[in-house]
Amino acid sequence: MAEAVGTQKISVTVNGVKYEREVNVRTLLTDFIRRELGLTGTHVGCEQGVCGACTILLDGDAVRSCLTLAVQANGRSVTTIEGLGSPEQLHPIQEAFREKHGLQCGFCTPGFIITVSAYLAENPDPSEHEIREALSGNICRCTGYQNIIESVIEAAQKMKAIEPAT
Ligand code: FES
Ligand code: FES
Repeated sequence: MAEAVGTQKISVTVNGVKYEREVNVRTLLTDFIRRELGLTGTHVGCEQGVCGACTILLDGDAVRSCLTLAVQANGRSVTTIEGLGSPEQLHPIQEAFREKHGLQCGFCTPGFIITVSAYLAENPDPSEHEIREALSGNICRCTGYQNIIESVIEAAQKMKAIEPAT
């Protein structure tokens, strides 16, 4: 069947599952993930690229899904917070945030954790200063930054214990 005007068929792998959908070309990736796929762990704060709450991984890179069109994810791989761990088996970064009380209301937490996962993949042994810089694009309205930093330090140690340097 032909595509409707202003729509495009896309194929996106989200958290390891391939989805094929016809979307309006103006649909934001945030809305595609949350409304079309029902993955509401990706939060929406500012909707203008400032707060970082909507951060997801696109082919391993941390991107703002509120500044990305769903059609830009065509043929690519997306990871949301739901793809990192499970309630039964938290991802080490999630575990570190839990242990170090790196969240209060939790609204910003998915964005922080996704940002941290991309950052630690590139820099597994960051200094506190580097962590602060890496997280400067994520806003926590509860202002629990100190515990977030401690969570990331703990997360880096947990990740190193799993994947020792070669
Ligand atoms: S909702 Fe995307 S950066 Fe704030
Ligand atoms: S924990 Fe509430 S906004 Fe960050």
